This record gives sequence, structure tokens and C-alpha cells, in this order.
Amino acid sequence: MSKTLIGFVLGLLVVPVIGAAVLLSGNFPFQATEKPPRWERRIASLALDPAVARKAAGLANPIAATDDEVMRGMKLYRDDCAGCHGSPGKPSLWGRNNLYPPAPQFADHGVHDPVPEVFVVLKYGIRYTGMAGWKDLVSDDDLWRVATFLTRMKSLPPAVEAEWVGSPQAAPSDSAAGKGR
Ligand code: HEC
Repeated sequence: MSKTLIGFVLGLLVVPVIGAAVLLSGNFPFQATEKPPRWERRIASLALDPAVARKAAGLANPIAATDDEVMRGMKLYRDDCAGCHGSPGKPSLWGRNNLYPPAPQFADHGVHDPVPEVFVVLKYGIRYTGMAGWKDLVSDDDLWRVATFLTRMKSLPPAVEAEWVGSPQAAPSDSAAGKGR
């Protein structure tokens, strides 16, 4: 083996060896209560966005966005999602500060992705995050209802808006963590 080749092989090993040394020496940052650095979020979404778009290709929302359907979606959200993703005027401190990566606070920003992409995330979840999949637990139609509600959160029919903003429910996970207010 030439010296160049030996040097090349040793060079390839430097990063994994340093990585393993950090992991095994008790220096792995395990805490969920830190904020992910920007570069890490960027790499994650570079991989996530095209994969979600691919899985959603060809899907169409079977739910018509009537007041009744959007209301049902809102109620499902309040029961199953607000604990991490927040309610109007009441962000989830648990979701925002104590999950890694944090749960986006939808009541503040709304959701701007296409409905089928939201549906795919709801159904299958996102690996290595607090976002679990709801497959086999919540019917596809109900997941489409929640997705329909989420993408209209910033332009709700008045009746739904009144219920949504008017009666913020205690986010269950916040009260469990004693951080409800
Ligand atoms: C235990 C906490 C938790 C619960 C409960 C939860 N989520 Fe999530 N969710 C997360 C986290 C954390 C992320 C961020 C994942 C990431 O950064 O990739 C997320 C991501 C998402 C995304 C993708 C957001 C984006 O920016 O692409 C959507 C949409 C979503 N959740 C909707 C819901 C809905 C709807 C429900 C209820 C049916 C729900 N989530 C329940 C924690 C939760």
C-alpha cells in the first residue's frame, strides 16, 4: 500500500473516531430542553420536506371545508394536538421549550403547507421527534379534517373562530407539567 493510500484511509477514519469518542465519553448532549442549532434544523428540513412531498404526491383532500367539518377538525386538534402545539393566546410551554426539536406553535403562525402534506405528517409522524404518527388510531377522514382546519387556521369561518378563540382549553400536557399559566 502506498503512503498516500494509507494516509487517505486514516483520514477517512478521523471523523468517525472523534465522533465515537465524544459519544462514548459522556459528552453526548442528550437534553431535550436545549434549542437545536440552526444548521441542524436546516439539514433536517432539507431531508424532510422532499420526503413528505413525495409521500403526499397524488393525494387529494376528501373533506369539503364546510363550517361543520372545520369545526370537527378544530375539536380534534384541541383534544389531541394543542398540548404540544398550543391554543390561541396559550402556547404550549412543554412543546415550545422542552421538546427537541420543539413543536411549532400553530396558533401563532398557522400552517402554510398543502393539505396532503399535512395529512401525511399527521398519519405517519416524524421520526426522532415528539411528533408521533396517528395511523390506526385516528381515521384518515379525521386526519384530513384536522389538516383542513390547520391550513385554514388564519381564515376560519366565524362560528369556528368564535369557538376556537373563545374557549381556550387547558393544554393537558402543560397542566401535567405544572406550567399551565
Ligand atoms: C407530544 C407532542 C406532540 C403532539 C401531541 C403532536 N405533535 Fe405535531 N409535532 C410535534 C413536534 C415536536 C413537531 C416538530 C417535528 C420537527 O421539527 O420535525 C411536530 C410537527 C408537526 C407538524 C409539521 C410541522 C412543520 O413545520 O412541518 C404538523 C403539521 C403537526 N405536528 C401537527 C400535529 C397535529 C395536527 C397533532 C394532533 C393530531 C399533533 N401534531 C400532535 C409534537 C407533537
